[in-house]
Amino acid sequence: MSWFNEGPRPGKVLASAIGSTAAAVLVLAGTAAPDAHAASGTLGTAAAGSGRYFGTAVAAGKLGDSVYSTLLDREFNMITPENEMKWDTTEPSRGNFNFGPADRIVNHASAHGQRMRGHTLVWHSQLPGWVSSITDANTLRSVMDKHIITEMNHYKGKVYAWDVVNEAFADGGSGQHRSSVFQNVLGNGFIEEAFRTARAADPAAKLCYNDYNIENWSDAKTQGVYNMVRDFKARGVPVDCVGFQSHFGAGGPPVGFRTTLSNFASLGVDVQVTELDIAQASPTAYANTVKACMNVARCTGMTVWGIRDSDSWRTGENPLLFDAAGSKKPAYEAVLSALGGQTANGTTPQVRDSSGGAGQHWTLR
Ligand code: G3I
Repeated sequence: MSWFNEGPRPGKVLASAIGSTAAAVLVLAGTAAPDAHAASGTLGTAAAGSGRYFGTAVAAGKLGDSVYSTLLDREFNMITPENEMKWDTTEPSRGNFNFGPADRIVNHASAHGQRMRGHTLVWHSQLPGWVSSITDANTLRSVMDKHIITEMNHYKGKVYAWDVVNEAFADGGSGQHRSSVFQNVLGNGFIEEAFRTARAADPAAKLCYNDYNIENWSDAKTQGVYNMVRDFKARGVPVDCVGFQSHFGAGGPPVGFRTTLSNFASLGVDVQVTELDIAQASPTAYANTVKACMNVARCTGMTVWGIRDSDSWRTGENPLLFDAAGSKKPAYEAVLSALGGQTANGTTPQVRDSSGGAGQHWTLR
């Protein structure tokens, strides 16, 4: 598969301007819970203290793993299905819908008081061949709209927010949409069509645009998405939120991530960190990401893309908050602290970052 066309590619890290010694991080035990939100000992409850959520991607096939499900239900109050709501699973052939795998996750969430983020309705990847081979615009429009309506109807009242369109913008310097069957057959208007259809299908659901490598404000891709959202808001196209996937290299978020979140929020949309993972899971890099969200009032929640390192799509990079055995990693404590939570020993850890918080992020070729 071509990473360039298919999505984020881990491990292509921009050269860091920060020396490795300068980036050294110490997590020290502090003495007091500093604010009104500080009496919470899990990620979900700590995030809830400021009205936010803390979520994770979940694979239906792992729900029977008791270590996995115990962590899931203890720590997380929002769930994104990692693959189960994607088109290749939900409509593998035209008009034949399969919601079984995703239903297992939604039922789990209902039973444990977790909210759901639907991921994703329109995406060029994990798209069955019968869709990508359509060449007639009327047929594709009808197929796309029916897919959106049928999936949203099935989960009406059970999914808080949908990634209506995922990764529609191109990498590199164009700031334009990427090539896809939707773009190539329907033209630029396909995103608007998808959002309008989604609003009509479930007026109560939040409708999000979701993408990666849009965290750095000055990047052409970020600007392209920003201009689209600004245009949608100006013309009354229904968009409620923007998801920043945040698949970061070892340095974590770009320095201007908070600015990016804030600038999008100023357009009148909520923003969320939707697929967070960071190569090697530096506590500082995680804390910087969480702080960027915490400092923006309309940043309503964060989701990590998996629970244990062994659950991650980034095999070998150990990018998550729990190790393969299910034990908390140092990044866990840093995240809990940044959320305003309290650690297991009753203290709030302080993250000392001698790098000044400057981050590095990975990019594509
Ligand atoms: O289900 C089949 C299984 O039947 C088969 O035996 C196996 C053999 O390879 O493949 C299984 O499918 C895999 C699927 O995950 C489920 O495990 C696919 O090969 C594999 O490509 C797929 O990877 C997913 C990837 O999206 C595909 O694009 C990752 O799990 C998932 O974490 C990742 O998530 C994406 C987000 O949706 C969008 N943003 C980027 C993010 C990371 O790529």
